Amino acid sequence: MQTEYSQRREQLMQKMGTGTAIFRSAPMAVMHNDVEYAFRQESDFFYLTGFNEPEAVAVLAPHHKEHRFVLFVQPKDREKETWTGYRVGVEGAKERFGADEAYPITELDEKLPQYLEKADRIYYHLGRDRTFNEIILKHWQRLMAGYPKRGTGPIAIEDTGPILHAMRQVKSPAELELMRKAAVISVEAHNHAREFTRPGRYEYEIQAEIEHIFRKRGAVGPAYPSIVASGHNSCILHYIENNRQMQDNELLLIDAGCAYGYYNADITRTFPVGGKFTPEQKAIYDIVLEAQLQAIAQVRPGNTYNEVHGTAVRVITEGLVDLGLLNGEIDKLIEEEKYKTFFMHGTGHWLGLDVHDVGVYKHGEETWQTLQPGNVLTVEPGIYIGLDAQPAEEQPAIDDRWRGIGIRIEDNVLVTADGHEVLTAGVPK
Ligand code: GLY
Ligand code: MN
Ligand code: MN
Repeated sequence: MQTEYSQRREQLMQKMGTGTAIFRSAPMAVMHNDVEYAFRQESDFFYLTGFNEPEAVAVLAPHHKEHRFVLFVQPKDREKETWTGYRVGVEGAKERFGADEAYPITELDEKLPQYLEKADRIYYHLGRDRTFNEIILKHWQRLMAGYPKRGTGPIAIEDTGPILHAMRQVKSPAELELMRKAAVISVEAHNHAREFTRPGRYEYEIQAEIEHIFRKRGAVGPAYPSIVASGHNSCILHYIENNRQMQDNELLLIDAGCAYGYYNADITRTFPVGGKFTPEQKAIYDIVLEAQLQAIAQVRPGNTYNEVHGTAVRVITEGLVDLGLLNGEIDKLIEEEKYKTFFMHGTGHWLGLDVHDVGVYKHGEETWQTLQPGNVLTVEPGIYIGLDAQPAEEQPAIDDRWRGIGIRIEDNVLVTADGHEVLTAGVPK
């Protein structure tokens, strides 16, 4: 795997010209007082280094004669390691992570300028850590002050995203292996959850079964807070309380996926708690399923996310008109976005190291990014008719029999050379 990280750095450096890139590790997130969440490395940092510790900075300086890849890390410290765990340390950063040079993080201020002063720009993503942003800006300011006499130095700061995230958008075989594993575990969890569900059980019991399987199969845990939403809770898109008792004749919407080796799955299924749809539930389900199948059929190289989304929007709008929930001419309803009363989110997103993964959907106002082999995206249309949903202007009143129905179906789809592969097809729908 170290070879692949190194190849990624080389690929990025080729595109950086005489720039120097700086990456900051993720911070430790506080749960409360002095208790911290388990550490999870920042995805760009991990993608380029595989290095999994906080308080680290990676520098890529392709124009530097000896040190093209530099790591600043927490130094070995026996006492601290007893409390917070093993550290790779400065020597380990070189030996095990391929850094040409490594320093204790405390030396950042002193050592960083030598990697910037011959660069024509700094590649850096302004992150949430304002203190660290300030450090970078301070160095930039100093370098610019010396520019007239030195004749070199970064005259611009450029975001790393456009170059790096285009790389992350195309998954390598090694990445796909991890994504398949995340998918397989999540499929097993969903299938078990469906069998375990019955009237009288609580949403949290289902959540526990799902997350038990995640961990038991070696996943890090949930990729995002699991959504186990029964009855009218299914109409709340990010419902995570998961504390309601489920009743017969209700639907259960489960949106859950695991993180395995830093890569994520993101699956949604909706099914009747008691095993049998009511006619209204079935009518809505059939529309969402048709929308999802037709949208997935659009996933192939050369097509765009917009075609996937547009297909789902059309099928859903037509279906809602058939049921009398929307009224009017299809094209006009779509243009005026009347469907958004019931389908208010996008049809999908890139998936990878981040659940809502990086990478553009559009270039400028008109041009959509075309799908390429190795892209992975979710396809997840839904219809949600909340208890207090209000019809859009000039649209029919919503009959009570539809209220409280929320349905989403979500799969993870890999773009292949000649079409697509549904990585999460193992959960029936
Ligand atoms: N589970 C988050 C999403 O579907 O985007
Ligand atoms: Mn989801
Ligand atoms: Mn999703």
